[in-house]
Amino acid sequence: MKNKIKGLIKLREQKNQAGGPDRIKKRHQQGKMTARERIEYFFEPGTFVELQGYIKHHSSNFGLDKKKFYGDGVITGFGKVHDRTVYVFSQDFTILGGSLGEMHAKKIVNVMDLALKAGAPVVGINDSGGARIQEGISSLAGYGDIFYRNTIASGVIPQISVIMGPCAGGAVYSPGLTDFIFMVNQGTFMFVTGPEVIKAVNKEEVSFDELGGAETHSSLSGVCHFVGLDEKNTLDMVKELLSYLPQSNIEEPQPVETDDPYDRMEDKLNEIVPSNPNKPYNIKELITLVVDDYRFFEVHQNFSQNLTVGFARLGGKTVGIIANNPDVYAGTLDVNASLKGARFIRFCDAFNIPLVSFVDVPGFLPGQDQEKMGIIKHGAKLLYAYSEATVPKLTVITRKAYGGAYIVMSSKHLGADIVYAWPTAEIAVMGPQGAINIIFKKDISTAEQPETLKERLITEYREKFANPELPATFGYIDDIIMPTETRPLLIKALESLENKALTNPPKKHGNIPL
Ligand code: HXC
Repeated sequence: MKNKIKGLIKLREQKNQAGGPDRIKKRHQQGKMTARERIEYFFEPGTFVELQGYIKHHSSNFGLDKKKFYGDGVITGFGKVHDRTVYVFSQDFTILGGSLGEMHAKKIVNVMDLALKAGAPVVGINDSGGARIQEGISSLAGYGDIFYRNTIASGVIPQISVIMGPCAGGAVYSPGLTDFIFMVNQGTFMFVTGPEVIKAVNKEEVSFDELGGAETHSSLSGVCHFVGLDEKNTLDMVKELLSYLPQSNIEEPQPVETDDPYDRMEDKLNEIVPSNPNKPYNIKELITLVVDDYRFFEVHQNFSQNLTVGFARLGGKTVGIIANNPDVYAGTLDVNASLKGARFIRFCDAFNIPLVSFVDVPGFLPGQDQEKMGIIKHGAKLLYAYSEATVPKLTVITRKAYGGAYIVMSSKHLGADIVYAWPTAEIAVMGPQGAINIIFKKDISTAEQPETLKERLITEYREKFANPELPATFGYIDDIIMPTETRPLLIKALESLENKALTNPPKKHGNIPL
């Protein structure tokens, strides 16, 4: 028995030595952790349990039989984050460049299946040269098996991808199917076709970073939701995100106790909306003044900044916040904002996270570009996402709510449960300038003093529409509230909707305008 135990100890050591000391040293010199170090940093100490650590590949193509390593380039298992189970796979670049072959894929598939059965989130740490070229079609098959599971698990368990190295070719579609993508600021990239192929086919020169680095994907393509300063900071952000989420779609997020009084009233809120309706203000300041402990965990911080989305807590409970940001494009909705908002709303709805919308929207962004890019179908996605969401939906109109954008932004008409308006709210078909130019076109063109007439008409229009009283008489607004009352009223509203159990008519699935 003693010998057997000694043998096992030796075997474990061999299993844990990854691609060997030289390759590990190289990783450290590059400022990167190994796959195992990442896992150790991620989980609460002593909680990680490894699975299938002794798997090896069975290929002998192109000398692969001489390059066999325990684990086959990916570590899988489960551990605890915030005392709750999370499944993980972490690709090991020191073994065959973390490339994905048949057995490597089987390990990932195994851990995804377990996560789905157990109803717990799965976090994938990606650091891989992609499909293991020597294994040919078996590698491609492995990707297919993973993509299929990503799709089936979508909306059932939270799936999070962390990009900590290369992620190229069709390999990007596994992260692309998951709910959130994190990238480390430097040394990471994602693309379907790399710079060399682009050069050969399109004769274009582009660097790895410009094509698929964290900055490109977080600010331009929107593929990436969060960027970390380094590997540890990125993993800390993943843990923070997990704290807001339930384990699966049959749970609600765990409440977190707070000392922040539910009836905290911030005088500053009464001052935040400027008296000039065309002046912007800081929407993130507004959000932080309302939510628990002034903590707002923003999603997609650098992408389509005219719409701000993210997680926060109210009275200890997770909420998803969606807010027009008057600081960027005056808070108008465009193609990217619609995509960003719709995806976030659908995530929240799938995982029982109530929606709180702060509305200050002058309309959809006008422009040829927008029309040609299909603002009709993309804007419809936002409309669709709000309409189909059955979680509690609370809305606060802080200033402008014009036209179609008023309807889209969680209006009563799309099933918002409770809609509040600040006294600064203006709800109308369009802004005063545009409106009077249309309805008084003839009078203005024939007036002796068109500017004076315009001014008078704008004032009249404002008096009629630029306040929330009229919509309140139709019941489209439940109450006109002091800005300072926003926090206590939202918390009370959430409590009142605790047992909301709305279901849409049974169907295979809807047909969201893709
Ligand atoms: C097999 C691979 C590999 C791969 C890297 N390696 N990628 N082995 N299949 N796809 C091996 C290398 O041979 C090398 O082995 C070790 O990993 C480290 O690689 P290096 O090139 O030395 O590292 P580095 O200079 O850091 O460059 C990393 C890299 C580069 C940029 C990722 O390796 C690279 O370009 N790899 C190929 C990327 C790619 O095009 N993959 C296919 C994508 S298509 P040794 O033993 O020499 O150390 C795809 C299709 C998926 O994935 C389709 C799904 C449907």
